[in-house]
Amino acid sequence: MTKRLNLYKVHMPSDVAAQLSETLHSGQIAQGPKNAEFEKRLAEFFGNDNLATTNAGTSALTLALKCAGVGHGDQVISTPMTCVATNTPILNVGADIVWADVDPRTGNISPRDIRNKMSRNIKAIMYVHLGGQPAEIDEIKDIAFEWNVPIIEDAAHAMGAKYEHMLIGNHSDYVCFSFQAIKYLTTGDGGLVLTNGHRARERIEQIRRMRWFGLDRNSYRSSTKWEADIDVAGYKMHMNDIAATIGLCQMNYLSDIIRKHIDNGLYLDEALKQVDGIQMIRRRPYTKASYWFYTLLLNTEKQREKFAKHMDAHGIDTNVSHIRNDIYSIFQKYKTALPNLDDFASRMINIPCGWWLDQGDIEYMVKTIREGWL
Ligand SMILES: Cc1ncc(COP(=O)(O)O)c(C=O)c1O
Repeated sequence: MTKRLNLYKVHMPSDVAAQLSETLHSGQIAQGPKNAEFEKRLAEFFGNDNLATTNAGTSALTLALKCAGVGHGDQVISTPMTCVATNTPILNVGADIVWADVDPRTGNISPRDIRNKMSRNIKAIMYVHLGGQPAEIDEIKDIAFEWNVPIIEDAAHAMGAKYEHMLIGNHSDYVCFSFQAIKYLTTGDGGLVLTNGHRARERIEQIRRMRWFGLDRNSYRSSTKWEADIDVAGYKMHMNDIAATIGLCQMNYLSDIIRKHIDNGLYLDEALKQVDGIQMIRRRPYTKASYWFYTLLLNTEKQREKFAKHMDAHGIDTNVSHIRNDIYSIFQKYKTALPNLDDFASRMINIPCGWWLDQGDIEYMVKTIREGWL
């Protein structure tokens, strides 16, 4: 095989150019009608109109934390097995992190360890659906309910994934997505917050204000007066119409893209389940992963090295995607024993599974993995 099989690829359809050109010369490139239309399409996709676009997934997470009332002196339970973007917003709103360990068979946060770490200082629980494999949403919700704290899901990897037949985006108080370059849907950079529960409308209205200085853009304005007050200092984290135009165009391809990730992932689930030296990720029957990347567990760290070299020699990219966050200096003061993470992080590796791989690519990859690399 001469072509390389990559882990990520930017999806940019050719019809974006004409639509972008129209927006660029329309005289309206700030947050405007394209953004409103994009939000409408997203609401149809998720079946939830309590949502707000942002200029990045990191901004979405920051706004969710702010709106959840998390600030100086508070603590947030989070997972270190994620992109650092899940966790820097916690520090940036002035709060501290309490790490929970992970499930060693998925890399997702462990509800049992969340329970061990709960205290009155915890003001939110934050977690990621690693690689698009949904975490244990219901168990985490039970804990959050008992302690009366909000949940913020980082669903950057999980567009199109389902838990108990419902699309990720519809379960927790706040659910954040990223539209960064290599996600299922890209707007160049961009993000999204959805809110749920009995305060969903109130929360999303607060987020809409917070993404734009703290001002209600829909409040009455004349040439000399603007009646809205600003009672909390907001940010400038909205999505502009240039990004929204790209997003609108991408929406026409989104279902197809997600379906291809899932078809490839399901094929790999079957094809790799009895291969020497490889352990599969645990997929619960009530979850449907969206397979942003495909994670395998090797027996040892040494065997992982060998596997990565073998794949590389055959033109297939592999990586660990995210480095466990607790090793970074900014998080040193939160260091704690995380034995399951030690195990998972030393044995996991991601292989490609996205929309750009056809059946021939996937079969070639399976054949390469089955070869004697051990
Ligand atoms: C798990 C996770 N959370 C958050 C983000 C941040 O999103 P953004 O780059 O849009 O700020 C990313 C990726 O970029 C991610 O992989």
